[in-house]
Amino acid sequence: MRALSTTGVEAPELNVSSTPAVKASSVSKSFAGSLVIEGINLTVEQGEFIALIGASGCGKTTLLRMCAGLEQPSSGLIEIFGKPPAAATSAHEIGVAFQRPALVPCRTALENVRLTLKITGSDDAMDPLAVLTHFGLEEALNLYPHELSGGMQQRVNIACALVHQPALLLLDEPFGALDEITRERLVDWLAGILRESSRTTILVTHSVEEAVTLSTRVFVMSRRPGRIAAEIKVPLPTIRDFEIRQSEQFLGLVRSARDALHSALAD
Ligand SMILES: Nc1ncnc2c1ncn2[C@@H]1O[C@H](COP(=O)(O)OP(=O)(O)OP(=O)(O)O)[C@@H](O)[C@H]1O
Ligand SMILES: [Mg+2]
Repeated sequence: MRALSTTGVEAPELNVSSTPAVKASSVSKSFAGSLVIEGINLTVEQGEFIALIGASGCGKTTLLRMCAGLEQPSSGLIEIFGKPPAAATSAHEIGVAFQRPALVPCRTALENVRLTLKITGSDDAMDPLAVLTHFGLEEALNLYPHELSGGMQQRVNIACALVHQPALLLLDEPFGALDEITRERLVDWLAGILRESSRTTILVTHSVEEAVTLSTRVFVMSRRPGRIAAEIKVPLPTIRDFEIRQSEQFLGLVRSARDALHSALAD
């Protein structure tokens, strides 16, 4: 694996003495004998925000599904806060928003978010109304999933993943179906709420810029079978406002990540 840096500036300090939020050791996954993921080693410290980028079909969703305990590795081991993923899921420590929104069809947007809280029984939850309002869904609170656009469904999906304040958030291309303005607004809002918490986040995205805007490290996966081909540290200030996003340092990091992605695709 290549470690890339354009700046030589140190990455933000993390509490590496605690149990990692995610530890994947030599993880491989096959479906019907066909190798999809090969030998992934990945440690995500508590409080980190990492981004995963890679070609379509390289196994990003499969890796997230294994972290959530929804798929088993064919070989290797994944631990979430030192436990098997299924145990972390049962303890409601994981929030997931997958590519395809998984909303209950006979419940409104607001009821879907409230239902998540009922299931998780969280004492430390955000206010469902406030979350949906932040996501620009104040007009859609009482609409059913089939009455929502794809982008609105995705926003409700993210709200469901976040509302119980899970310690680990897994986001699989959560902004894919959104227009650019809504996308920018949500990226800023997500960056804001994640800054205020000690939550660990893994974001899968096809947007290199989004990855650099939000994360502390960007991991680039190779083509199928997916391996970690490169890691780019993002030693930017925590608040990445417009000025930071126009800076040479930011643009250099985006270039590095893009180059790493292109060479991973060419390999
Ligand atoms: N349950 C399954 N059974 C068989 N094959 C599967 C299954 N889940 C995923 N795959 C295959 O594994 C490969 C990786 O799929 P995955 O969805 O993880 O890719 P991805 O990197 O998330 O792609 P994308 O960027 O398009 O979302 C694909 O070839 C897919 O067809
Ligand atoms: Mg996917």
